[in-house]
Amino acid sequence: MNPPELADFAGTCKVRVEAALDRFLPTGDLLPQGLHEAMRYAALEGGKRVRPLLVYAAGQALDANPQALDVVAGAVECIHAYSLVHDDLPAMDNDDLRRGRPTCHRAFGEAAAILAGDALQAQAFYLLAHADMPGVDAQTRLEMIEILALAAGSRGMVGGQAIDLAAVGKQLGMAELEDMHIHKTGALIRAAVLLGALCADDLDEDRRQALDHYGKCIGLAFQVQDDILDVTGSTEQLGKQAGADGAREKPTYPALLGLEGARDRARELHQAATDSLAWFGPEADPLRWLSAYIVARSS
Ligand code: IPE
Ligand code: IPE
Ligand code: MG
Ligand code: MG
Ligand code: MG
Repeated sequence: MNPPELADFAGTCKVRVEAALDRFLPTGDLLPQGLHEAMRYAALEGGKRVRPLLVYAAGQALDANPQALDVVAGAVECIHAYSLVHDDLPAMDNDDLRRGRPTCHRAFGEAAAILAGDALQAQAFYLLAHADMPGVDAQTRLEMIEILALAAGSRGMVGGQAIDLAAVGKQLGMAELEDMHIHKTGALIRAAVLLGALCADDLDEDRRQALDHYGKCIGLAFQVQDDILDVTGSTEQLGKQAGADGAREKPTYPALLGLEGARDRARELHQAATDSLAWFGPEADPLRWLSAYIVARSS
């Protein structure tokens, strides 16, 4: 299903973003040691790194500077890692397993996990404000900070998480479910694509709109597939507890549409995402491979 080129592309990007995160996060011997260890535990090991891959793929479509992309990819992944740490807390989804290992609060305690999430979020904005991004001017840097803040905050991911928690045990309609997913997961993925594109110095309005639409579609598709895998995947395969949504009475796509209905919706979104890349030639192939992967993945 995945072209061999995707494996090569993903392998190279993963090495880049993991090296960048290793550089960007304070080492575990710096005070407060426990906090820095918890941050590194949450951000450095495992994970598919889908958001960083999208940053690099969008950047590659516009020939952006790879060093600037490392910063953006690292910042987006810091926000994502923080969101997982908090999502797993007892007050939220109360999960024990993440990326095949004990969740951060299981390994370090609840207070340390809350603080590690807080600090990872701050680190993301520090990177965008401070780290060397060749080819990115001060105005664009400011715009990036604005985009990431909106995507991460109460009108984006955190807002979606609030909707998710309020929806437990409730029957949502299609529009409400879609709205929840667009916010809790879609917003950060959409931002990843746009931020990667903003690293290029010649982003015209047509290409910007096209990439933003791609990110919007694939961001929602990602959560539809996450809901599907919660039903069809195994705990071992996923590295997190399978069947957790049903056990917690979370509204999901398979619960509302059935598995086939959810799969159809994911395919539709994938098609819409790739259609919006018509502006681009082979330089956008990594984005095409990634959208196919996002709806076909098994973990
Ligand atoms: C899980 O995200 C949380 C959601 C937003 C659905 P990922 O499936 O990207 O988790 P990792 O980073 O690969 O562990
Ligand atoms: C999490 O959604 C979304 C965020 C972390 C913002 P889920 O709760 O479905 O993610 P998993 O299934 O625990 O990875
Ligand atoms: Mg959750
Ligand atoms: Mg969860
Ligand atoms: Mg889930």
